[in-house]
Amino acid sequence: MNISVIGTGYVGLVTGVCLSDINHEVTCIDIDEAKVSKMQAGISPIYEPGLDELILKNVQENRLTFTTNHLEGFAGAEVVIIAVGTPQNQDGSADLSYIKQAARDIAQHSSGDVIVVTKSTVPVGTNDLIRDILEDNKQDGQSFEVVSNPEFLREGSAIYDTMNGDRIVIGSQTEESGEKIKKMYSPLNIPYVMTDIHSAEMIKYASNAYLATKISFVNEISNICEKLKANIEDVTYGMGLDERIGNRFLNAGIGYGGSCFPKDTKALVQIAGNVDHKFDLLESVINVNNKQQAKQVEQLKDRLGNLQGKLIAVLGLAFKPNTDDMREAASLRVIEGLRREGANVQAYDPIAKENAKSIIGTEQVTYVDSTREALRGTDAALILTEWDEIKDLELDAFTLEMSNPLVYDGRNCYDLERLKGYPIEYHSIGRPPVVPAVAHQV
Ligand code: UGA
Repeated sequence: MNISVIGTGYVGLVTGVCLSDINHEVTCIDIDEAKVSKMQAGISPIYEPGLDELILKNVQENRLTFTTNHLEGFAGAEVVIIAVGTPQNQDGSADLSYIKQAARDIAQHSSGDVIVVTKSTVPVGTNDLIRDILEDNKQDGQSFEVVSNPEFLREGSAIYDTMNGDRIVIGSQTEESGEKIKKMYSPLNIPYVMTDIHSAEMIKYASNAYLATKISFVNEISNICEKLKANIEDVTYGMGLDERIGNRFLNAGIGYGGSCFPKDTKALVQIAGNVDHKFDLLESVINVNNKQQAKQVEQLKDRLGNLQGKLIAVLGLAFKPNTDDMREAASLRVIEGLRREGANVQAYDPIAKENAKSIIGTEQVTYVDSTREALRGTDAALILTEWDEIKDLELDAFTLEMSNPLVYDGRNCYDLERLKGYPIEYHSIGRPPVVPAVAHQV
């Protein structure tokens, strides 16, 4: 099938590359010349394991091309996939300007019968708007069908998720267009959900909102566990054995971040508000997450009295491991809090360091090249991302580099029993603290 993809962000690029890998002819369109020439040379503009290799393979086998030219990009396309960004407006609603522009570009530059597939996360009703724009701008000989096909891939495992997803959701106006998109994915052998367009759009928001709810729920339980001296890991293990609950996505931590959950939860509150429904539950999920991200700095302040002039190690800056994405990362709020309290920061992340530096800046923050360097001479260490490198750290790194090791682990990286052999004061999420027999005088 001849497919064009507009937008080479996470969703567009990974989708385009994977569709070419299952033998479709794919052209990815992006306005950024420099980015396009890099991709054409097999270099991914985003950090995603395995993506460079897959781009190169499909470019070399002539199934995948990149262009900035719309006319060239849409030539012969039977399917055009919209995968442009939907950033947040000030009020939390989704900014649809890139979507509208993409629809106008398709009407202007494509030809013949085209199925327009929306992969970007868009508020319920947006595909109606896309259809109206296409109809208003179409030229002689053109006909359009609109299909909603939301994306469920995760950063860091994007290729695996695309090739092995739990479901492919297809919302269409007609059975024919839905079937055509189903056929496009058929080599993947993934179950389909065939539905109407509004339901497909809602499945995406409801899924992300539900996953965010799971995290905030578990984080609240973890906060209560801390007060009652219970252990969240045993609690979630016990909960997860109930098949109705399931054991996945129940990790307590410093809160969810990234480009999706924070944005999509706020957008769904807006979407509900637009039809006069106050989404109390989801508002609480968002509030719980905001508090969770601020929690460590509060705890540290209570423990040390004040943070003025203190040197604090921050291990992990990305919103989760295996990505350099800093969007809504807990580290942003944590470092902002540390700065406000007058602390200085030694920060380390295996991949996101440069990205973080450009966003957070260097005021009161030094970026270093290893966990050991980050810990050196600090008064306390905060763990914010569970990179393997941080989880696998020999615990004597804390005792060798810090004179009074005090650790706040926002990702429960270490086994409590193992810690008991070290003179480390260790606080994690929803688990009893480990405090050495002689408490440190920090
Ligand atoms: C999320 C969804 O998982 C994808 O299905 C969806 O396609 C994507 O959003 C999107 O809408 O594009 P992603 O943001 O890449 O994917 O990352 P996740 O792995 O879901 O993690 C999100 C955040 O939740 C991270 O900060 C992570 O640390 C946190 N998290 C996740 C927890 O705190 N606990 C958990 O048990 C799981």
